[in-house]
Amino acid sequence: MKKIITYGTYDLFHEGHYNMLKRAKAEGDYLIVGVTGDRYDVGRGKLSVKDSLATRIENVKKTGFADMIITEEYLGQKISDIIKYDIDTFVIGDDWRGKFDHLNNYCTVKYISRTEGISSTQIREEVFTIYKIGVITDKMSDNQIVKESNLIAGVKMGKVYSEDKDIAEEFCKKYELPGVAETPEELYEDSDVIFVRADIKDRYRLAKDALQAGKHVICDFPFSLDSNKQKELWNIAKENDRILLDNIKAPYSQTFIQMMWAVQGGLIGDVIDFNCSVSKKDLDIPYLFYELAGMAVVPMLKILGHDYLSMDSRLIYEGESIEYATMYFEYPTGKAKINVGNKIRVGNQIEIIGTKGTISIGDNWWKADYFEMDKTDGSSQVFNMNFDSNGFRFLLANLVDMLNQDIIETKFFSEKDSWKVTAILEEAIAKER
Ligand code: CTP
Repeated sequence: MKKIITYGTYDLFHEGHYNMLKRAKAEGDYLIVGVTGDRYDVGRGKLSVKDSLATRIENVKKTGFADMIITEEYLGQKISDIIKYDIDTFVIGDDWRGKFDHLNNYCTVKYISRTEGISSTQIREEVFTIYKIGVITDKMSDNQIVKESNLIAGVKMGKVYSEDKDIAEEFCKKYELPGVAETPEELYEDSDVIFVRADIKDRYRLAKDALQAGKHVICDFPFSLDSNKQKELWNIAKENDRILLDNIKAPYSQTFIQMMWAVQGGLIGDVIDFNCSVSKKDLDIPYLFYELAGMAVVPMLKILGHDYLSMDSRLIYEGESIEYATMYFEYPTGKAKINVGNKIRVGNQIEIIGTKGTISIGDNWWKADYFEMDKTDGSSQVFNMNFDSNGFRFLLANLVDMLNQDIIETKFFSEKDSWKVTAILEEAIAKER
């Protein structure tokens, strides 16, 4: 019996998929179809898949060509499948020509011509609403929103506006955006969502203007140095029925959510010590403390909650700017310590010590795709999500879900979370003065 295997996502099942499965089956006597699992797709950056895994499997099943359906869960699984199922021929569309030649070591590899003029991507673009993101910026770096937005079905980049026209023009060229808006109004006219990427002193003003113009807003974090102004922005967003998101990625990432689950689900017992530290080079020094400390407080608030019993802090100034900060928080079962440094360097780590184990992320925790858990019983485990990104894609995927379902508040990082961060920073500064 000649056994054939083929793989695909089979999202929004179409004629091209049908033809491919029919031809694959005709290559032998027994056809195994591998349907990509959701996690595998996320890992390789395919967050645009619309149909659930169950629907995609069902659609493959309905063709009647598959004798067996399996799910593809990880990179490299094809080799073990080919060996395990004793496959004779691996079949795939010729859009992949050359990419699977290495499988010739295990079976015959056959590339079959694709059906012209149809793809899941094309259907997604035609059938679903695509929301346009316009950018207001005073910087040349895009914080990866352009690259990440390409991975999400449902959003596309629009024009860019800057109060400094040269920046707008260069930004537009660098990221190949569709054009420069001459005025904020022109940008609003062209966009559904405005991404505010600006110095902290300008964020409140720019975000407020965009919200009042009826746009949804993603704004660099924190929005303002003043928690009252921040509250005002949230109120305007709510009154206008618009989404306001902090540009903070960690709470949306799967690594972070799994870590939250592990701690809150009691896998490491009661938390005795929580340590989180951040340093970054080249930040605008007067606002360094707000930028970095804001970011560093987020994991603590999301994982241990807002209800700490007391807070203490120590700030080291150089002139007007805070060069180093330590903040201590007393929680009912233990302490949390946040370290932020500029010239005085600290590691970019998270360590959560519990009565039954320790969770740690060794480097650049805010974009980590893994964490380690060492238990007191001697066992240890690495949780690896396998993605290469700064996490923007998860925030954008959530934004699209919110837009499609008319939801304006998210629990990933809520108004309360956002407000609490600024309030903590204000308190730390006030204590020193
Ligand atoms: N396929 C095909 N003809 C098409 C589209 C897909 O023969 N017009 C084949 C692919 O080559 C692959 C299988 O169908 O062997 C599953 O493809 P998949 O990636 O799931 O479908 P696409 O429509 O290419 O999806 P996307 O646009 O998301 O890449």
